[in-house]
Amino acid sequence: MTDQKFQKPRGFADLLPSEIPQWQEIEQTVRELFPRYGYAEMRTPHLEHTELFTRSIGDTTDIVEKEMFTIQRADRKNLSLRPEITASLCRAVLENHLLESEPFQKLYYLGPSFRYEKPQKGRLRQFHQIGVEAIGAGDPMLDLETIQLIGHLFDELGISGYDVHLNSMGCPACRPAYRSVLKEALEPRLEDLCENCRRRFDRNVFRILDCKRDGCREQTRDIPAIYEHLCDECEDHWEGLLAEADRQDVAYTIDHRLARGLDYYTKTVYEIRNPDLGAQNALGGGGRYDGLIEELGGDSVGGIGFALGIERMILSMPSGEGEDGRDGAHAPDIYFVYIDDECQRAVYQVADRLRRNGYAADLNYEGRSVKAQMRVAHRSGAPYVGILGPDELGADEITLKEMTSGEERKVPLDELETKIGA
Ligand code: HAM
Repeated sequence: MTDQKFQKPRGFADLLPSEIPQWQEIEQTVRELFPRYGYAEMRTPHLEHTELFTRSIGDTTDIVEKEMFTIQRADRKNLSLRPEITASLCRAVLENHLLESEPFQKLYYLGPSFRYEKPQKGRLRQFHQIGVEAIGAGDPMLDLETIQLIGHLFDELGISGYDVHLNSMGCPACRPAYRSVLKEALEPRLEDLCENCRRRFDRNVFRILDCKRDGCREQTRDIPAIYEHLCDECEDHWEGLLAEADRQDVAYTIDHRLARGLDYYTKTVYEIRNPDLGAQNALGGGGRYDGLIEELGGDSVGGIGFALGIERMILSMPSGEGEDGRDGAHAPDIYFVYIDDECQRAVYQVADRLRRNGYAADLNYEGRSVKAQMRVAHRSGAPYVGILGPDELGADEITLKEMTSGEERKVPLDELETKIGA
């Protein structure tokens, strides 16, 4: 037993080599698929000025009120680890004048986000998101394309059994009237709402719709739906989206209580849920944010995007076998076993040559006996083992053992590449 001195902070995770293949599968699929839909990758800092998140996500949301990792600075603006990536991306699009050269931008990202939430299955304090943002257009078909992109990605990854929940959040023109309708409907039920929701009633009534407590869910079950109170523009958008989804055969569930946890949304909002995941069942969510770019100092242009949580996607993927069996690392094409120091030096050089020629080659550095080296070679999963002793070295040869058949033969050292195949 080692005398372990440090542990990772709660809600943070180590990713072991055996877990990496699934992450790489997701990342590679995204990098291959998203550009087919016109998205280019973009990366932004993990740390931003806190005010960026207060302004965009909203200062009465749980994310901003309770969940940000913030560095307080006495004489300067506070900094926060990003709790999501949309705000950072929009900031970066403006700061780098991307819309000036191309007024419609399709961008995607992969990376960590940080929220100080109570950790549980599928909920971490550092989690990882894949997302897209399409900035500069207001067409509801673009909203549908983002939903279909998620479906396509999930098909590629073998994720099934999810539901697409859909709602509209209206816009600054129609939301105030709906806010009044909502308050009117909820006021007589205030007593039955949780303390948090009673506070939300005055500060940000839409957040009550997000509350996961059974008591509050009961009280909001039959409240009036926002899509009954949309202005003409938002209604056209909503109807256009539903009609197009029907035409394209995209399945969805209209969910009049879907409000999402961020204030920047306008019109379309959606969430992808996997009912098998328990309390943290949202695989991802997204929506339109037609006021956000303007709020951050840009022109009034539309935008839509989504983010998916990689950890929750992995929980929903068919569990991969250990793939190549050796803690996620690829088995080498050849493993070298040597008799003495001079032979080690020789196979070290040959391994270097093979690697430069595109082969995976390895040897032992633990000062082990030949027998122990053979055991390691076996465990490595390498199809060939090259055994070098002084006699073979003198003749510029090596004993090549084919591991499945056990067959051994001597081959010239400089012909090894042709003997171990492509
Ligand atoms: P969000 O719904 O806050 O949206 O997060 C998106 C996804 O990130 C969630 O559905 C979930 O899968 C994952 N996630 C969030 N918090 C955690 C956590 N503590 N642990 C594990 N996974 C988590 C956004 O972040 C928006 N920026 C989405 C968006 C992009 N809207 C428009 N563009």
